[in-house]
Amino acid sequence: MPSVVMQRLEDSCDVDLNEGADLTEDQLIARLRDKQGLVSVFTNQVTRRAIESAPQLRVIANVAVGYNNIDLQAARERGIVVTNTPDVLTEATANLTWALILDITRRVSEGDRLVRRGGWKGWTFNFMLGSDLAGKQLGVVGMGRIGRAVARRAQAFDMRIACFSPRASGRVSLLDDEGTEFGSAESMPLDRLLATSDVVTLHCPLTDETRHLINQTALARMKRSAYLINAARGPVVDEAALAWALKSRLIAGAALDVYEREPEVQQELLALENVVLSPHLGSSTTETRVAMADLAALNVIAVLTGQAAVTPVP
Ligand code: GLV
Repeated sequence: MPSVVMQRLEDSCDVDLNEGADLTEDQLIARLRDKQGLVSVFTNQVTRRAIESAPQLRVIANVAVGYNNIDLQAARERGIVVTNTPDVLTEATANLTWALILDITRRVSEGDRLVRRGGWKGWTFNFMLGSDLAGKQLGVVGMGRIGRAVARRAQAFDMRIACFSPRASGRVSLLDDEGTEFGSAESMPLDRLLATSDVVTLHCPLTDETRHLINQTALARMKRSAYLINAARGPVVDEAALAWALKSRLIAGAALDVYEREPEVQQELLALENVVLSPHLGSSTTETRVAMADLAALNVIAVLTGQAAVTPVP
């Protein structure tokens, strides 16, 4: 917890801060027994058993936009408010996504590895060629806040935008902060998006429907020249299937910020050159992390003082 946010919490509540490793379920249960509020991060599994063992709990404030680590149903049954941190991390996560897109398509990390191991023999005309983006199609899976922010940036790279989102259909307007339309995306079924996009980027939440959405069949649909980007949640991609697709050059490359069993990474991926692996950095800027923690604190304080939560999960 940033100190300014700790101060805000301590001004309103008695705080029991866990400064160590993530608590086990039993440790969490013991610590939650007498608590009214919980500030959690997405590596904390807030299970049904933990929720049901905390008789006084009124609010769970996740310091993340994703909340698949919390048993929402169990919280709802107990009337516990669950909040997340949307909006404040949208731009940081969209920027990281673009860092990954540019890295994999221009082979920056691959080149960095080559230079460091002394493998660079000098400039030649057709050395380490990457792919241009202009005129190509960016396929955005999940057109929520982050997906839209990623799509907005794609305009600067002269890309066409396709999107797949359960709630979107036809042409989806892209709006700037003032609500002015500056472009549009073509909504299409996932199969078509996979078959026609040059870069596929994932921005959907992890749910029962999206777990392994990108499996062997989905990967086989993609163009051989296409790239897959995942800055959403690891289990949206079947990591073993992805390693197979990359090894057999079924797709050109992948850039991942999230993994199925973090911090473990599928062993086979580590040996491949056509994959960029970043350690779950989506929202990790100083400014954004302070804003996320502050929003979580405001949510806890609001609920515990009898007001409506600022950003309750839908
Ligand atoms: C981080 O992964 C988040 O969901 O905010």
